[in-house]
Amino acid sequence: MNVLVCGGAGYIGSHTVYELIERGHNVVVADNLVKGHREAVHSAAKFYEGDLRDALFLDKVFKENKIDAVIDFAAFSLVGESVTRPLKYFDNNVYGTIRLLEAMNRAGVKKIVFSSTAATYGEPESIPIVESDSTVPTNPYGESKLTVEKILKWSDNAYGIKYVALRYFNAAGAHISGEIGEDHDPESHLIPIILQVALGKRKQIAVFGDDYPTPDGTCVRDYIHVTDLADAHIKAIEKLFADNTSAVYNLGNGKGFSVKEVIEEARKVTGNDIKAVTEGRRPGDPSTLIASSEKAVKELGWQPRFNTLSQIIETAWKWHSSHPDGYKK
Ligand code: UFG
Repeated sequence: MNVLVCGGAGYIGSHTVYELIERGHNVVVADNLVKGHREAVHSAAKFYEGDLRDALFLDKVFKENKIDAVIDFAAFSLVGESVTRPLKYFDNNVYGTIRLLEAMNRAGVKKIVFSSTAATYGEPESIPIVESDSTVPTNPYGESKLTVEKILKWSDNAYGIKYVALRYFNAAGAHISGEIGEDHDPESHLIPIILQVALGKRKQIAVFGDDYPTPDGTCVRDYIHVTDLADAHIKAIEKLFADNTSAVYNLGNGKGFSVKEVIEEARKVTGNDIKAVTEGRRPGDPSTLIASSEKAVKELGWQPRFNTLSQIIETAWKWHSSHPDGYKK
């Protein structure tokens, strides 16, 4: 199959490109490299540097390549920044995807897998979270992704573009080879920051709040390995070709770990003390987010393979310890 991966130089995108190529698919990557890294793109993928908001750029990509399906990862994803700069998020995440859907329509490409998020739910009404739960985002990032999900629904209705929207919980870990991994600037995610402490790049990890209604008082999250997410995207494309029906799926392990448990596991994996200091709560953090991924297991035949926290942290550690400055030479 010929797959266009938008945002294929980013964290989850680059891992999905690796999986697609390992399974014999032809991959075209389009990325503006604002957040992505050229070095993260597999050498067997054809690479185009450009922005989804540029219709001429997209027409060129579709004209020069026969594309069967699109996977769209291209988006800004910092929750905190989205609150202070909402227009930046709606412009890139929503307007960019509208331009992409228009270009797909012009090129007659009718299948898309879209990178969505647990942030579409907002404060959960019950745990585990199922896809039919209410979606009330508490930040513009989640709102931008939910808006695109709605646009996809109406684009299916009007143009017959079939989609799968995948709502990820906490993406973590790195490719088992240690060749690619997570590299954000600035880094805000828990596991990379903890591992930067283990590497001596930071003095300590700040635990954002220990007075939540959870067993040890720190926030509980559902960490899902990036290669398992990549696998789900390929299964989603296969589903679209098998039944030509749009759908939305949660992707998580179904198990929650507290911030303190993650730090403790990282101490075991790295053999480093990892100093932790409790600070105040980070605004907007729900206390517990755990997915029910039963629908994806049943309908996509998806099963996470890196389903222990130690496997997730070990692969992340392999990447970070061999690339302490990320992709920077
Ligand atoms: N945390 C700390 N200290 C840090 C960083 C994080 O204690 O230095 C805590 C957070 O408060 C949170 C947990 O670690 O409780 C995980 O935080 P992350 O920033 O790693 O991830 P989030 O759960 O905030 O965000 C993730 C995705 C977002 C997505 C969101 C959905 O990264 O893209 O889930 O709620 F929007």
